[in-house]
Amino acid sequence: MTTLSMHESQTVHLPVIALGERDLEKRQIWAERRRHMEKQGVQFGTDGSRPLWRNKASSAALKIFYAGARLLRLDERGRRNALDIELATRTVSFPDLPLAFDGYRILHLSDTHLDCLPEIAVVGARLLADIEVDLLVLTGDIHGNQHAPLSASTRPLLQLIKAVRVKDRRLAILGNHDPADMAEALEDLGFDVLLNQSTVLVRGNQQIVLTGLDDVHRFFTRDALEAFLQAPEGFRIALVHSAEVADYAAAAGCALYLCGHTHGGQICFPSGRPVITHLLRCRHASVGAWGEGNMVGYTSRGLGVGDIPLRFNSRGEISVITLRSPSRPG
Ligand SMILES: [Fe+2]
Repeated sequence: MTTLSMHESQTVHLPVIALGERDLEKRQIWAERRRHMEKQGVQFGTDGSRPLWRNKASSAALKIFYAGARLLRLDERGRRNALDIELATRTVSFPDLPLAFDGYRILHLSDTHLDCLPEIAVVGARLLADIEVDLLVLTGDIHGNQHAPLSASTRPLLQLIKAVRVKDRRLAILGNHDPADMAEALEDLGFDVLLNQSTVLVRGNQQIVLTGLDDVHRFFTRDALEAFLQAPEGFRIALVHSAEVADYAAAAGCALYLCGHTHGGQICFPSGRPVITHLLRCRHASVGAWGEGNMVGYTSRGLGVGDIPLRFNSRGEISVITLRSPSRPG
């Protein structure tokens, strides 16, 4: 991709994935390795591989919970909860944010899983109808059910985002539910998919860097950490499906880390405390805003639902995050 486009906002779009021979080769190597990992019944984390039985056990427990909720006729309420999406707006100040990016608005979507409950796309589209942002980031788990075709997720996703006005780029990363083929499906929707890569957004003579990783919860490889180390200098934002490499991102100098994965618990105690977070590490970052060293992190509760189409004591969310520089004039 060599086309550079200039928008009213003076942002120059640099290519994410230059389609040079070397990049195509890298992409092919990534896809082959990812598909190989998908076929194995194990989870690859930062500390090695482990059997998937824990994930299977929690999926089975959720299905039992779902059967119980149906028996008690609580499923309709849980479904209504799942459709009660919050449009959350947040402002975060960074002392080292380049002034040209003061006021930069990022629409953060995560864990859309629209094949599991497609009606969420209709509710979400209504919330997004008049929204204008600089950047759209999608932090993985676009898909839900591995037996469903990818179009069951991508078609409602297109419906969800079609009314959003995005001035700059649409960036996406993959989650643990997304197969390798999702990368191409997202590119067909106009997303640039970051697979352990960085991209640069430029305004005038200033820039910010976004580093996007392939999922690190089930498909971790050293390339993920290498991407942090290889990223260009500057104000840096990490896009990772789960919070599980937050400490590595902070050590590498990222200022902001956007993720999802936990669904805010999806099924929570009345206090809002998640019953299960599916985090193997960095558990302090299971929901909402958190800190890691000098880095600010945000774990979205996600838009959709996985395993079962219900939520209790945890709202789905769409976030709009505004970056601020404390040194802005006036
Ligand atoms: Fe998810």
